[in-house]
Amino acid sequence: RLVTVLNGPNLNLLGKRQPHIYGSETLADVEASCRALAGELGVEIRFHQSNREYEIIDWIHEARETAGGLVINPAAFTHTSVAILDALNTFEGPVIEVHISNVHKRESFRHHSYVSLRADGVIAGLGTQGYLLALRQVAQLIGEKA
Ligand code: DQA
Repeated sequence: RLVTVLNGPNLNLLGKRQPHIYGSETLADVEASCRALAGELGVEIRFHQSNREYEIIDWIHEARETAGGLVINPAAFTHTSVAILDALNTFEGPVIEVHISNVHKRESFRHHSYVSLRADGVIAGLGTQGYLLALRQVAQLIGEKA
């Protein structure tokens, strides 16, 4: 019952980065909330962030062996990365894509997501709460399978 939570580029600056768009919570705050909820839901989580595409791909490969489900905010790689889509297509469990901001309300280049071609669900525009909703959903889906 492991859920891997992955975060893409620039999310290490969450809280400092364009707070009018992404809010004032830091990624450490998001991780702490996810850990608290995971405890309630009876799942374990691994929480990672990287600015490097290959690290995210490697964590998806690792999740193939270890995790029942994935929550991923691929950040800007959402809109550019066929490689992350290909990696996600090798993962068999549920995948929920999260965006803190409502990408559909923003520049048109944010309207297309490669990752959505694989994601079982997408949450956008609900702030950092989106991670918790996604985690709940993944926990439920992997619980149903077990
Ligand atoms: C984001 C939206 C992306 O378009 C952007 O590149 C990000 C963050 C979000 O969480 O709203 O870095 O994924």
